Amino acid sequence: MHSFQETPILESELVNESQVSFSEIINSEPNIHKLIYHHVSDTVMVKGKGIYLYDAEGNRYIDCASATFNLSLGYGHSEVLQAVQEQAEKLVHVTSTFQTDPINTVVRKLVEVSPENLTLVHPKVSSGSAANEGAIKIAQHYTGKRDVITLFRSHLGQTMMMTSMSGNAFRKEPFPNLFPGSIQVPDPYCHRCFYKQKPKTCDFLCVERIYDFIEYASSGSVACIVVEPISGNGGNIVPPPGYFQALEKLCREQGIILIFDEIQTGIGRTGKMFAAEYFGVHPNIITTAKGLGGTGFQFAAILTEERLGGLEGHHHSFTYGSNVLAAAAAAKTLDIVSQPQFLKNVETVGNYIMERLRQMQEKYTFISDIRGVGLMIGVEISDDEGNPNTDLTNYIAKVAMKHGLIIRTSRYGYGNVFKIRPPLIITLEESEQLCDQLEKVLTEVQ
Ligand SMILES: Cc1ncc(COP(=O)(O)O)c(C=O)c1O
Repeated sequence: MHSFQETPILESELVNESQVSFSEIINSEPNIHKLIYHHVSDTVMVKGKGIYLYDAEGNRYIDCASATFNLSLGYGHSEVLQAVQEQAEKLVHVTSTFQTDPINTVVRKLVEVSPENLTLVHPKVSSGSAANEGAIKIAQHYTGKRDVITLFRSHLGQTMMMTSMSGNAFRKEPFPNLFPGSIQVPDPYCHRCFYKQKPKTCDFLCVERIYDFIEYASSGSVACIVVEPISGNGGNIVPPPGYFQALEKLCREQGIILIFDEIQTGIGRTGKMFAAEYFGVHPNIITTAKGLGGTGFQFAAILTEERLGGLEGHHHSFTYGSNVLAAAAAAKTLDIVSQPQFLKNVETVGNYIMERLRQMQEKYTFISDIRGVGLMIGVEISDDEGNPNTDLTNYIAKVAMKHGLIIRTSRYGYGNVFKIRPPLIITLEESEQLCDQLEKVLTEVQ
């Protein structure tokens, strides 16, 4: 197999199906599958640098999923690693009761880069799920109300509360005691509209109907609505212009707290620090995690309006929330991502990839829709009748691996959307390679 390369990926470096079968590119321990509780792939990864990941055989992949959509700065970002190393010499962890420089810096910076109405930061959470749960507790504590409205296909996390409130039945099915008090309502999935409307003439019926859900399906006591501005796992659904303004109006009229789950969309993914800015909305709460750790450190936070303060530490705090080492990574990440030229690159490269995908759509009829903002892009795959083609989508992801691309699909939607969400540091040249390789994949599967 080829040796590690730091230079741009070349066709000759890629695994060619005619020479090497898929099973031959692995280097795994067969027995490990008996020891690890969950399913793991046969491929063993040994190194990552920038947008590239290398397996034990030396094959190089462009990671179009930024690991778990969390490596905003890619693998092994040197500035973040240096900040963490320096911090490690001084202090790795201390109870979050005390102040530390890294936490203070992250808190100040998050207030600076988020919508101006968000002035309080709750950093005592270390995962997206815990941030979302905390946001709901804050809304319930403030309003004294109960119910939570979420969208079809939403993925808000894997704790029992977040599993219960996410928008997919298959994830709840094994568990007998689900958390009560949530209603899932149709999402703004215009390509397959639940109400069979067209975006130009629908007058946001999917928001209008939420009034009915509140009246006829809730307990009469609704605390909050939690939405992903662009659904991360549900199919990269980008709401049409005006959707969030209509939702904001509903929340205002009904006294409902609007929570944006920006765990995937935040920290520069859309070319803005938060998608709220892209959509011109002022949610009352934003949750952030994933990309905040830059190159893989675990940091999360809840950003709220001043008036929503007051939840006590004993109501929501976690041992590894506010971890000082992770905060050093987050502080450096925020510094880098919030630079105007960094965000501009996300927009430029995202536009380039979208344009290339549109050209591919003309050639490959199974591409039924392309949607995205910045580097949060989804490609919907359909059959000749326009129905979701999940098998082909999964096949594309499998073939992509052989062509040096790691591509993930929308497991929580129909499973027929593959996602292009590389690390935000990707250059125009690298994105050209990504598109060239993708085109080879699509030609092969056609
Ligand atoms: C939109 C969204 N919200 C919440 C979560 C949960 O985050 P975590 O896995 O850190 O608990 C995820 C994770 O995939 C996510 O994509």
